[in-house]
Amino acid sequence: MEKLVIEGGKPLHGTVKISGAKNAALPLIAASLLAPGVHVLHNVPDLRDTRTILRLLESLGLSWEREGTSLRIDGTGLNSSEASYELVKTMRASVLVLGPLLARLGRAKVSLPGGCAIGARPINFHLMGFEQLGVQCDLDSGYVDASIDGRLKGGRVYFDIPSVTGTENLLMAAALADGTTIIKNAAREPEIGNLVDMLVSMGAKIEGKNSDRLEIEGVEQLVAAENTIIPDRIEAGTYAIAVAAAGGDVIIQDCEPEHLPSLVEKLQLAGIGVEIGVDYLHITSKGTDQEIKAVDITTMPYPGYPTDLQAQFMALMTCCHGVSRVHETIFENRFMHVAELQRMGADIQIDGRSAMVKGLVGNMLTGAPVMATDLRASSSLVIAGLAASGRTDISRIYHLERGYEDIVGKLSGLGAVVWKENE
Ligand code: EPU
Repeated sequence: MEKLVIEGGKPLHGTVKISGAKNAALPLIAASLLAPGVHVLHNVPDLRDTRTILRLLESLGLSWEREGTSLRIDGTGLNSSEASYELVKTMRASVLVLGPLLARLGRAKVSLPGGCAIGARPINFHLMGFEQLGVQCDLDSGYVDASIDGRLKGGRVYFDIPSVTGTENLLMAAALADGTTIIKNAAREPEIGNLVDMLVSMGAKIEGKNSDRLEIEGVEQLVAAENTIIPDRIEAGTYAIAVAAAGGDVIIQDCEPEHLPSLVEKLQLAGIGVEIGVDYLHITSKGTDQEIKAVDITTMPYPGYPTDLQAQFMALMTCCHGVSRVHETIFENRFMHVAELQRMGADIQIDGRSAMVKGLVGNMLTGAPVMATDLRASSSLVIAGLAASGRTDISRIYHLERGYEDIVGKLSGLGAVVWKENE
């Protein structure tokens, strides 16, 4: 296994280019199951998770080829409706094949993903939604066995909590249903808008893009089309927070600042310089040499503060002046990074779903051996390592590789001293 080593305490300078969004690429790749023919996707990040979903598509009979950041996926050969535990257990987003398989084949047998490091993460909303479209969902030996005779039927779906992949799964299923489907309290993350655009380009009829009410008038068939993945707002946000914590002057290029409204606000409140361009953010910070103000965050569905940037902001707040309160409302177990940050000298106390972070007031974190526990927790340790004095060794970096394309190359390009080593 590999670990990441960081010699911290060095400011970051230059330009970093943001890749396509993991959480948009996964549903858009899954959507190519919906129609035969060659689908072309541009700006697809090459990540452990995108490779996993492509392996899953291969196991269902599809073929694909990559040229640079573009993918050509041939949806013609679909010949299986079963997603095995072996693939689903490594990536929960594999459940995104449920909707397309049901829509195209009328059957899907997909392993239940099981628990995960950040919470229980059930898929009951997805299944409830499919049932509203006439699907019979049975649980059998750890698998969801879902089927319907003939076409799915349009129906009404209300999510108790707006679910991102739940909304995506239902959108894909409803696109080929007989009749109209209305999804209320739908999630509004920009990645869902990207999927709506792809489905519409394939011939789907969808109203309400980017709103919490989506209306889908089912069509009999869809066709392959060409689409582009939006920039990864979480990767962009992670680099912005890294510059805020380590100090420096960095252009975060090829991002979509409009997709980061809450983070921009919070960084400015903390006293970090943020200039907003059309497709870039310019971040300036003196790191721990400046007075980073204590700022509270509460994670919320979009456009609220994203849970996927909670751990990273907490790493920044360990160096603030004062006390910051970080409240996590989306996942019940998303503080796994706290114990690791404490090993680097952070003063954090957890109380249920809140964490009180007492800033070190100008003192730096100190490098230490730490362990990555999930994707975003890992990136908070990278940020802490960049801001800390001395050497930080982060083990289990396969978590990071699920969601950050070429993180070592991108950070090195900004002047960070960082490398991979065998453990
Ligand atoms: N929930 C249920 N039942 C369901 C579905 C969701 O109770 O059937 C609950 C969840 O447990 C959670 C809340 O609803 O408390 C919202 O979860 P959501 O379904 O929106 O999460 P998700 O679709 O599984 C996506 C991202 C996550 C991101 C969350 C929240 C993808 C592939 N994954 O997950 O990304 O944290 O939305 O924004 O889009 C990551 O990239 O590191 C990551 C974890």
